[in-house]
Amino acid sequence: MNREMAKQILAEAKALNDGGWIQHSYNVAHLAEKIAGLCNMDVDKAYCFGLLHDIGRRNGTMQSRHIIDGYKYMLSIGCNEEARICLTHTFQYKDIHGIYDNWDCEKEDIEFVENYLKSVEYNDFDRLIQLCDALSLSSGYCYMEKKMVSAVRKFGFKNTTIQKWNAIFDLKEFFDQKAGVDIYTLFDM
Ligand SMILES: [Fe+2]
Repeated sequence: MNREMAKQILAEAKALNDGGWIQHSYNVAHLAEKIAGLCNMDVDKAYCFGLLHDIGRRNGTMQSRHIIDGYKYMLSIGCNEEARICLTHTFQYKDIHGIYDNWDCEKEDIEFVENYLKSVEYNDFDRLIQLCDALSLSSGYCYMEKKMVSAVRKFGFKNTTIQKWNAIFDLKEFFDQKAGVDIYTLFDM
């Protein structure tokens, strides 16, 4: 995978299902790249992972199904690492119920994700995209609390909401320390 390939994949997806998620993906990619640079992580990888994390949305408007659709799509074109990010990016809190929206896919798919989450040990790229997703809108960047509140206003408060919020706070703290700056100061890019 390289930047040009990732942009091409997103452009094809845009032709299938254009929407705010395209610019959101670019925003996640730019922030991920910036943070990666400060953390001695591979910036190109961070950019591509950011750009492709929501690629399942190429298949249309959907809720958490985009996770599994993205995973399957990236696997189908031989991109295993990007497939992994499609699955892990939503689960800052590593629990099958740790989603803001709802499962709109088959029972077997949900079971697959559940087992996958149990089997995987998160690495810093998983964590990076989880954080950048939580800070990126389609219109730009925001404090993490903004997306937390808007998601709950839209989908309601769940048993896992507090754990998910706490996991996002932990991620912010983790990357503030790792990058040596408050991540919020990177928003002026
Ligand atoms: Fe996203």
